[in-house]
Amino acid sequence: MKKNFFVINGPNLNMLGEREPELYGEDSLEQIIDYTTQRLLPHDVNCEWFQSNVEGELVSHIQSIVQRNDLEALIINPAAYSHTSVAILDALLMVKIPIVEVHLTNTCQRDHFRQRKLTARAAVSIIEGLGRDSYWIAIYSQLILGS
Ligand code: DQA
Repeated sequence: MKKNFFVINGPNLNMLGEREPELYGEDSLEQIIDYTTQRLLPHDVNCEWFQSNVEGELVSHIQSIVQRNDLEALIINPAAYSHTSVAILDALLMVKIPIVEVHLTNTCQRDHFRQRKLTARAAVSIIEGLGRDSYWIAIYSQLILGS
């Protein structure tokens, strides 16, 4: 039976491809979604994707996930909100399925203010620094650990 995953992306990730490509790569978010889908083709996986630049919309979407019982895991790249958002952390703390936080870049090698990851407190693990591969590896990790 197909396993369902939800992937949430936070602010400015809709600008991937144009946004600091030397850091974040040349793929757009659409291309990353296609790439992730391709990588997971051999597995029986279905992924729903959501992106917003708005903190409250991200919170509302996470709340809607709390109500669902058909999901294996939530994958989230909260982007800059990872470092600042107590509201997103509080929403994530309500989620009962495993959460994997994803970052395209290795935030440990970056600015001091990116070292604090508030939202990651709600996550079982963090996958970062692998560029576009961070997403499918995050999903795959939950696929094999959850099976
Ligand atoms: C990011 C890292 C964050 O620090 C930054 O604000 C982003 C992207 C990443 O995927 O590497 O927007 O989450």
